[in-house]
Amino acid sequence: MIAIVTMRLAPSVLNADLARLADQVAAIDGIADWVHLDIMDGHFVPNLTMGPPVVNSLRRHSDMFFDCHLMVSDPVALLPALAEARVDLVSMHVEALADPGAALAAAADAGIAAGLALKPGTPLEAVLPWLDRVELLLPMTVEPGFGGQSFMADQLPKIRAARAAIDAGGRAVALQVDGGVNQDTVLDCLAAGADVFVIGSAIFAADDPAAAARRFRAVLDREPVRGER
Ligand code: DX5
Ligand code: ZN
Repeated sequence: MIAIVTMRLAPSVLNADLARLADQVAAIDGIADWVHLDIMDGHFVPNLTMGPPVVNSLRRHSDMFFDCHLMVSDPVALLPALAEARVDLVSMHVEALADPGAALAAAADAGIAAGLALKPGTPLEAVLPWLDRVELLLPMTVEPGFGGQSFMADQLPKIRAARAAIDAGGRAVALQVDGGVNQDTVLDCLAAGADVFVIGSAIFAADDPAAAARRFRAVLDREPVRGER
């Protein structure tokens, strides 16, 4: 169980200098709460990034909370190798799962906290049957696959609905947003009820990623603590 007591900052290294991945993660360690690792397979999304060997290598350089966003056609197949890399959480896309219950059970067996992610076109109802078994929901605010896209404001009602469903359920389920989150749109996400903020290019495309992360940290730390849920 993840006890959410503050707003969490989860920088995505997708648009970082991936040839210097460990250094880039070190730059935001101590400022951010989680590091968000986007794993893509060129099938589920039209882009190809890193896989378990890279995550495993990174683990030798970082003790941060590894939040792995699995944009792959068969996320369950990656779970044993990701467990070896001691990832802390995986979010699996519900569109990729024939049997979400079995996938969540597989993550639990692997000792990894699990969440469910949704593409913008997927209704929230697709994940609601699993709300009592997930640690996190991720309604995407761009089409998954690439950093640096524009925030889809038409996804805000889905985030608000997810917040209402989580609060009604009474369990601690993190509500993550990912895609186009920047100094402007982060405020809309906060107002809609998100509590974990994936931020890629607005941190790692900045001249000074640590300074950019500190600016987001300051915005999030101004928020009232929601309390342990
Ligand atoms: C996109 C990824 C995101 C991406 C976000 O599919 O899931 O995590 O890195 O990057 P920005 O913040 O630039 O939209
Ligand atoms: Zn992501």
